[in-house]
Amino acid sequence: MSQGAEKKSSAPLQFQRLLRPTFSMKHLWLLLAAFTIVAAEPIPPERLATMIDALTRLGPEKVHANPKLAEALGKVIDATRGTPQFVQLIREFVVKGQETGLLEVAAKFPSDEAGVAAAQLILASTNRAAITAALAGTNAAAIAQSFGNTGDKRAVGWLLPLITNANVQLNHSIAVRKQAVRSLAQFQEGAAQMLALERAGKLSDDLKFTASVELNAVRWPELKAEALKRLPPPAGQNDKPLPPLIELLKMKGDARNGEKVFAREEVGCAKCHVVNGRGIDFGPALSEIGTKLGRDALFESILDPNAGISFGYEAWTVEMKNGDEVFGLVVSDAAVDLAVKLQGGAVNRLKKADIAKRTQSKVSIMPTGLAQTMPLQELVDLVDYLASLKKK
Ligand code: HEC
Repeated sequence: MSQGAEKKSSAPLQFQRLLRPTFSMKHLWLLLAAFTIVAAEPIPPERLATMIDALTRLGPEKVHANPKLAEALGKVIDATRGTPQFVQLIREFVVKGQETGLLEVAAKFPSDEAGVAAAQLILASTNRAAITAALAGTNAAAIAQSFGNTGDKRAVGWLLPLITNANVQLNHSIAVRKQAVRSLAQFQEGAAQMLALERAGKLSDDLKFTASVELNAVRWPELKAEALKRLPPPAGQNDKPLPPLIELLKMKGDARNGEKVFAREEVGCAKCHVVNGRGIDFGPALSEIGTKLGRDALFESILDPNAGISFGYEAWTVEMKNGDEVFGLVVSDAAVDLAVKLQGGAVNRLKKADIAKRTQSKVSIMPTGLAQTMPLQELVDLVDYLASLKKK
């Protein structure tokens, strides 16, 4: 999950799989162009694209087999450091030993496709020292965030010590530890482990608020039920049964206060919806929702998200052959990859060959029980705010 709901989600990156058609005369020319560059230092930016193109068309096997080409690849990798292209090259050419560069990208774009892809490569690497150092460094929060978006269960093993081990804890700011809680909540195992800590009385007080917000919104019913018991939603909780819809519709609200409720962390609307450019782009944008839905439908969409799931926003669970699980919205379904957008806005591009099975969830990703995170009057304020969001 991203650091703050108020933070605008960053623009999508160009991060598409490169084409690799068969070798032809044209590629020979590109290849020659690549060779002539190798001597020149550094690579002029305008030639970089040509070189990447030539190398990619040749493919990893040919490039690794030829020392000159391997050298050219090395230069290209150096020249793209810190960019999404860097990650793409490391992945395409299966280059080892680039963890430091990958960690840079993960820290820079923790919720973007490039950062998530970088984090996946890092978790798959055996360079434990680099990961340990990164999780103790100044970018630890962003790295923890990128790990949470990977769907790779190995992330849990790295994140859990950030909130448990007393020694490690001393080195971590509250921002890092809170991010670790958010990221852990993205894994069933992570959520279960945090509840176990709470049961054992080992969850530190300064993390309880975040843990409560996150664990009360997880998608695993037993864990959610336990969270409700052990870490009930924070202050503002509305535990009285709601009046029937017809009564709710008669109440008057304050749209300006509703706007504040929408942005409040424990309510969480802005963690999944954009309104006029603010919030995270995950669920449908709500900038004109007052034109689309009346007050009655707005109440219903909050009280019972499962009643009518908006087209294109159905949730999917994708099980990978290695046992990992990714949960989110399918945003593209191409020949080679399946792109899944995770809560928090990151896109996880999965190789279809690695997928074991995908199942459409019957329930919405939008959590139930959100009305319980605020007093009744504020629910009405929130609906009046949404109703005021009209097409200009
Ligand atoms: C975890 C992410 C998440 C959170 C948190 C969340 N939503 Fe949603 N919301 C969604 C998704 C995904 C959809 C589309 C699927 C569906 O309709 O159930 C949706 C749908 C909606 C819709 C219907 C939109 C339409 O175009 O029909 C409304 C209204 C809405 N949400 C309001 C809210 C409000 C208000 C809050 C805070 C109280 C909130 N949401 C919190 C993810 C979320």
